[in-house]
Amino acid sequence: MSGRPAGASREFGVREESRLALVRGQGARFWDAEGRAYVDLGATHGAGSLGSGHPDVVRAITEQSHELLYLGSGYANPVRTAFLDRLLSLLPDSFARVFLSNSGAEAVEAALKIARSATGRPKVVAAMRGFHGRTMGALSATWRRELREPFEPLVPGFVHVPFNDPAALDLAVDRSTALVLLEPVQGEGGVHVASPEFLAAARAATERTGALLAFDEVQTGIARTGRLFAFEHSGVVPDLLLLAKSLAGGVPIGATVTTEEVAARFRGTHHSTFGGTPLACAAGLAALEATVRERLAERAERLGAQALARLSSLVPQRARELRGLGLLLGLELREKVAPYLARLQSRGFLALPAGATVLRLLPPLVIAEEDWADGLSAILEVVGNG
Ligand SMILES: Cc1ncc(COP(=O)(O)O)c(C=O)c1O
Repeated sequence: MSGRPAGASREFGVREESRLALVRGQGARFWDAEGRAYVDLGATHGAGSLGSGHPDVVRAITEQSHELLYLGSGYANPVRTAFLDRLLSLLPDSFARVFLSNSGAEAVEAALKIARSATGRPKVVAAMRGFHGRTMGALSATWRRELREPFEPLVPGFVHVPFNDPAALDLAVDRSTALVLLEPVQGEGGVHVASPEFLAAARAATERTGALLAFDEVQTGIARTGRLFAFEHSGVVPDLLLLAKSLAGGVPIGATVTTEEVAARFRGTHHSTFGGTPLACAAGLAALEATVRERLAERAERLGAQALARLSSLVPQRARELRGLGLLLGLELREKVAPYLARLQSRGFLALPAGATVLRLLPPLVIAEEDWADGLSAILEVVGNG
């Protein structure tokens, strides 16, 4: 006797098993058990930048699983070294050290610990509407009340300032501040792009007070916004860069990248059993090489511009606003987004919400031009016809 009603899910946090079941994927397409195809406009939540079954990632994890699947971080491994070297080669010279973990939330947790330990200070300044994950530290930096409230008390010392308000940020950062933590584009919070002035103000305030600056690029990282890293749009280089999602082509990974100077000030220890396994690092190396070779940042910029041009006809009649950078786009509707997502799904297109009214597009960067064009046409029809 499980006490589970018929039709209820076995998964914690999922009430009914009425979700679409998908059994196979290739590129930006999925298929259900009956062979019906769906185009991924966001179903992989940003982790699927290379799509399903990218041949380089499949080859890398197949070969690596024969060679060496798991090794504790107490031992060196050439695949891990090669991955870290390649990652750092894509970043400004100031970045020199990487802590590897398994998820975005873990990348955030590491940044919080590094910042508090390196500065000896307690305060963390984050942004309203920001999202940083659901572990207790990351949740404390996250803004939305309904995500936080059932789990209070959260970690003390966190304050939130209005996003894109340089003066408010400047006021909040003081000599008790360890860390300013920001997303260059707020993804879950509704797709809001940080202004270069806001990011520059964060850099100036942290330099003025001796706090550290972290950019959470878990969703924007690795080519999604039209640059390999979203901070490149503003030219503001943080002290800590947080990556996860697509970094290893769909294999779990998290990375907290920082400078030699910050690493030298870190006191204490931090560790994760599965952080930086040879399997994840082999996948990560293959994913980075493919992203650069296939010029996916340029592709994201080009396909994103197509979407901005085509969907702008929905504003202002059918939608309030269209926002985004590259292939991280948000169409803010005048009503709830859920029925529109259901209509898109029934036509074979899987998009995402960002809050109650924003239709978020976060497709694989390898999406076929035709699928992207068809997806945009479907949105024009579904949203345009109400
Ligand atoms: C900006 C940002 N940070 C952190 C996270 C948390 O990542 P994960 O779900 O891998 O813990 C997410 C997840 O959506 C995110 O978008």
